[in-house]
Amino acid sequence: MTTAIVLGTRPELIKMAPVLFALEDMGEEVLLIHSGQHYDDALSESFIRDLGMRKPDYYLEVGSGTQGYQTAEMMHKLEKILMEKMPESVLVQGDTNTVLAGALTAVKLGIKVGHVEAGLRSNDRRMPEEYNRRIADHVSHLLFAPTPDSASILESEKVWGKIHMTGNTVIDACERYVQQAEEKSQVVKDIPFDDFILVTAHRAENVDDQTVLSGLVETLINAPLPIVYPLHPRTKKMLEQFGIYDKLANSENVHLIPPAGYFDFLAMMKNCRFIFSDSGGIQEEATSPSIRKRVLVFRRSTERPEAVNTGYATVVGTDPEDIAKAIADEVSQGQTPSVPSPYGDGTAGKNIAKIVMEAIQ
Ligand code: UD1
Ligand code: UDP
Repeated sequence: MTTAIVLGTRPELIKMAPVLFALEDMGEEVLLIHSGQHYDDALSESFIRDLGMRKPDYYLEVGSGTQGYQTAEMMHKLEKILMEKMPESVLVQGDTNTVLAGALTAVKLGIKVGHVEAGLRSNDRRMPEEYNRRIADHVSHLLFAPTPDSASILESEKVWGKIHMTGNTVIDACERYVQQAEEKSQVVKDIPFDDFILVTAHRAENVDDQTVLSGLVETLINAPLPIVYPLHPRTKKMLEQFGIYDKLANSENVHLIPPAGYFDFLAMMKNCRFIFSDSGGIQEEATSPSIRKRVLVFRRSTERPEAVNTGYATVVGTDPEDIAKAIADEVSQGQTPSVPSPYGDGTAGKNIAKIVMEAIQ
């Protein structure tokens, strides 16, 4: 056993699957460890099924908690497994607490860390993800930057590890699964609108803020095109806590659904007019040749400037007046670009696996 993959949330499953498949195709025996950061079927096992991944070898079953508790509990449980198995390298993807725990635990045991999706920066100090990704980048031995922009950020910060520009594995996943999604998913038939805006929001600095979340609810209820909104459990919890869940759920303009499975989500992205979201991965997926949609980014900043520079994404902020205007403008005059994706050609997983195999030989 020479390579371990540590993951634990919905986007990590999607973006690590192409790396796992490529490593296994090259004959590598991979130790797959799930932290349990996401544990609902709709955020975890449903993705393992849709992606056709094998079950993880270990589930740490850490669950939800405060930032410190969750990270520390993961490190504590992961350390025992890594000490027993001592893989030559540990791969992590993105910027979640699972990534921070995976990277720190491994380097403290002298195990080499590979960070997939390295070099992204929002420069927003409110985001736990910004600390996670910066720390992971600065302790990693191998840094897999998805774009030239992210590679040059890493160069300018003088990271210790070796930087490789590989593309983003989310494009591999889109290219592999969009056609299957269109064949298998029934979700679009159940949507009561012919034309709609697809909405997601789960970012802590948005949905844990009552003013921002209430402003979003008002905007969606009054939007000039109907809304389809798969609700992240964090957002559902906060809508209930702020007493505004029923208002959103009872609106005829809004079709609220549980978190969508991957195939259903890809099918909705294909069929919507445009996307309104604070997600990171969705900004990238929307540029994929098999999807090509505009994304209005419900945030003050983005760590994905490439999506903005190619015309696929526009950062619209979180102020209710600004977001209502941005949605109205997009409905009346939005145009989807046709330029190639800035996130690679769908070979990132293979590129990363090759570099990992060379590094551990
Ligand atoms: C986490 C990541 C975020 C990523 C997102 C992907 C961090 C700091 N955040 O955010 O970067 O974009 O995953 O979706 O790592 N919950 C459930 N069921 C679950 C998991 C969570 O109900 O299976 C609820 C719990 O109330 C929990 C809350 O969601 O407290 C937040 O979960 P958590 O994993 O802390 O963060 P996410 O918001 O999911
Ligand atoms: N996604 C999904 N169902 C949903 C919402 C998102 O399958 O209801 C997928 C989406 O295709 C993308 C990923 O989840 O690949 C993004 O995850 P999320 O927005 O939770 O996290 P982020 O990318 O912001 O870290």
